[in-house]
Amino acid sequence: MHIFYSKKEIFDYILLEKSKKSSIGFVPTMGALHDGHMSLVEGSKKENNITVVSIFVNPTQFDNPDDLIKYPITTNNDIALLKQHDVEVVFIPNIEEIYGSNVISEEYSFGNLDKVMEGEHRKGHFDGVATIVKLLFDTVMPDNAYFGEKDFQQLQIIKKMVEIKKLDVNIVACPIVREDDGLAMSSRNVRLTEEHRKEAPIIYKCLKEVSELAKTKSVEELYAFVNELFNNNDLLELEYFEIREINNLSKVTDFQLHNEYRAFIAVFAQNIRLIDNIRLF
Ligand code: PAF
Repeated sequence: MHIFYSKKEIFDYILLEKSKKSSIGFVPTMGALHDGHMSLVEGSKKENNITVVSIFVNPTQFDNPDDLIKYPITTNNDIALLKQHDVEVVFIPNIEEIYGSNVISEEYSFGNLDKVMEGEHRKGHFDGVATIVKLLFDTVMPDNAYFGEKDFQQLQIIKKMVEIKKLDVNIVACPIVREDDGLAMSSRNVRLTEEHRKEAPIIYKCLKEVSELAKTKSVEELYAFVNELFNNNDLLELEYFEIREINNLSKVTDFQLHNEYRAFIAVFAQNIRLIDNIRLF
């Protein structure tokens, strides 16, 4: 497995592989890798000759400095795990390598996509995500790039960024990977207290119940159901619950026959923010 720390090294390696007609699959990460990431890696390995995983905790996508400071760093374990999965290349740049001395985001116009949910609650977050993904794409030049549906809004933003920048990268959406009790895998889960970790599977149970109820109840009744569930929970605090149409993430008041919907949720377990979503119908 090659481990590259500089853009130049990885760029030269990729150019060489491209000259041999190797296809490049790319999994961008912020490290603290878990089985969710590994399912993206496995997806990439199946579909490409070379799989590149980047590990970079991107400062420009954090609106909360505390969240950035506390972000788990487990680079040695990450490298060991990637070796076990026979990943060909790991790219671990530092902040200066990526941003030079100018650690700022490019400003994008994503329309409605970055105004709602995560965009509303984490100011500047998606400009930061789009900026880093674009910079990494410029260096790694992937044919296919893999993103999890747990961050469904991020996935839509990245598809839009690729369209805006006219990039020749195929974005592959991968299903959410869950713990045995249903909690969506996330690097943040390790920071939960034992008590909050025990309670957290309620989030997915709630979403499953919503997808069942959606067959017979109105959108308004679904919002009321979720609000009541969390009003009665002392450990988890609901930040938002939203039902949205999947392509432009517009808000839904009534279900229409031919549209596709997802229910999205963000919950605070003490100061740790957990998100999840589920497809309806
Ligand atoms: O989903 C993540 O881990 C990050 O947002 C990403 C895509 C690696 C960009 O920093």
